[in-house]
Amino acid sequence: MAGVNLTTIKSERELELLRAANGIVTEVHAEIERLIEPGFEALELDRVAERMICSRGARPAFKGYRGYPACICTSVNEQVVHGIPSGRRLQEGDIVSVDVGVELEGYYGDAAATYPVGDISPEAGRLLEVTMACLGAAIDVARTGKRISDISWAIQEMAEGAGFSVVRDFVGHGIGRAMHEEPQVPNFGLPGRGPRLVQGMVLAIEPMVNAGTSEVRVLEDDWTAVTLDGRLSAHFEHSVAVLEEGPEVLSGMAWESRGCRYPGDGKERGAGG
Ligand code: MF3
Ligand code: CO
Repeated sequence: MAGVNLTTIKSERELELLRAANGIVTEVHAEIERLIEPGFEALELDRVAERMICSRGARPAFKGYRGYPACICTSVNEQVVHGIPSGRRLQEGDIVSVDVGVELEGYYGDAAATYPVGDISPEAGRLLEVTMACLGAAIDVARTGKRISDISWAIQEMAEGAGFSVVRDFVGHGIGRAMHEEPQVPNFGLPGRGPRLVQGMVLAIEPMVNAGTSEVRVLEDDWTAVTLDGRLSAHFEHSVAVLEEGPEVLSGMAWESRGCRYPGDGKERGAGG
């Protein structure tokens, strides 16, 4: 297990830069929540995100990362993470995880949310609520003195307690002057292990929760991860600073302060919707 010495501790100035990068991530998510509806193409979301990010003097952090071909990841239904935006139209009842990464003046922001497309099934709704709650519980333990696997355990316990499973093949991560820094933040594991959390750590916490089996496989495109059993998967991610006064969510989203069950909940629909 990597020691805490490999984890960069951010100064107040660096935290300001991380707030700014994540502020753009937040703005992009607000626009994506507004746009998502049946008939919309994920590829169009990618174009909107690219325009917004570039017009703010930032760079889409995913584009070109290990050859990734787009600005955002859009993972529909059984797709877990790293779905490549395509011209396929979103359909009523789909759920789509949208992951946005931004680099601004050398500092990174990273956050994801899973959006409902129109009306979704009760099971899909519950999966979104539970995955959001897993992230919330994880953030609540991201406090000085705790250890990394306390976060992992909070996620696993809540997901499995609800009858779902957590993906083990992908993990959260430190974030700062690189998109992926130490330490890794697994979404499963017994508490009390791994590096201790200290003031100035910044973590991208990202539970991926499956309705069925926790097992995943990667498609021929070498990116898209899907559930092995084809059942639904949801993904929420925040970049979170560990501060003496408690966790600070750097990538807070508009719908979270509306007290929604999940993003898009209670959203005004167009005529006939
Ligand atoms: N949020 C994801 C991560 O932390 C996004 C990476 S997508 C990639 O790894 F395309 F950049 F790989
Ligand atoms: Co991430």
